[in-house]
Amino acid sequence: MPQVHPRVLTGDRPTGRFHLGHYFGTLQNRVRLQAEGAELFVVIADYQVLTDRDVAERLAEYVEELVLDYLAVGIDPERAVIFTHSAVPGLNQLLLPFLSLISAAELRRNPTVKDEIAHSQQSAVSGLMLTYPVHQAADILFCKPGLVPVGQDQLPHLEATRTIARRFNARYAHPGSPVFPEPQALLSAAPRLLGTDGGKMSKSRGNAVSLAATEDETAELLRGAKTDAERRITYDPVGRPEVSSLLLLGALCQGRDPQSVAEEIGDGGASRLKSLVTDAVNDHFRPIRKRRAELADDRAHLRAVLTRGNARANEIADRTLAEVLEVMGMKY
Ligand code: TRP
Repeated sequence: MPQVHPRVLTGDRPTGRFHLGHYFGTLQNRVRLQAEGAELFVVIADYQVLTDRDVAERLAEYVEELVLDYLAVGIDPERAVIFTHSAVPGLNQLLLPFLSLISAAELRRNPTVKDEIAHSQQSAVSGLMLTYPVHQAADILFCKPGLVPVGQDQLPHLEATRTIARRFNARYAHPGSPVFPEPQALLSAAPRLLGTDGGKMSKSRGNAVSLAATEDETAELLRGAKTDAERRITYDPVGRPEVSSLLLLGALCQGRDPQSVAEEIGDGGASRLKSLVTDAVNDHFRPIRKRRAELADDRAHLRAVLTRGNARANEIADRTLAEVLEVMGMKY
């Protein structure tokens, strides 16, 4: 059946709360796509947490935090399908035929996997680490999306997904009626926001302002942000990365460009810069944080959103799996 609006699938690992980098890098984009009429699928990739660690900790809590963040930023649970892939057996079963379509050498060549292996704390590389991009192909293809918004690091996985779709169709589909689409990546231009220590902004490094932080926590984190000794504030991402990242954050919150923020501060120095950015962040996120706090009081609603999302994902996955088994001749 032709779809009037593109189906869009994207997802996250439940490893902690979202921070401002996630918000400006991907969450805002999802809300925009939804406003444009896209049918949004959001997978909470719980099994994927086990790729670079032995035990996935605090999963139930982190899953709930992600759902809270999604709803608080404006993803509409009446229209979007929010689900955890562990709750969708039909999706997981797609992994088996998909694994047969990709070689071990191809799995070992995936640059994002290689990078994750290099940074992993584990002594041995697990089978899941090597094969999770194929599982990701399953959590993408089960709902046959047209578009997958991703960051740069996910492009190899999307390429693998397209390869698997193409090979599956070539090997099993009836000529002229492909089972799977080859979804397009929608590369989100993530703004270059640094952590407060000047390094990469990251959940695990304690250098990020989370979406859910209070105004005081926000102020405290930003007060401690690394800057430089020059009093005159200028926007120069190469020469002054820390100052420029703060300017960019303030500008993103106020919907203006970072140069004009720099000019406004002029000779005000780092303290004026930090207080302006703190106000900008707190003003922009006030309604989102308020909504988040209200939602957090209604755990039954959060559970209902996930239960409904999982039910809808199961319906679709069962239908896709039936089609797959049919064309593979596994219908007895
Ligand atoms: N691999 C993604 C990450 O580490 C999470 C993810 C899982 C995902 N399934 C996906 C992203 C499907 C986009 C589409 O953040």
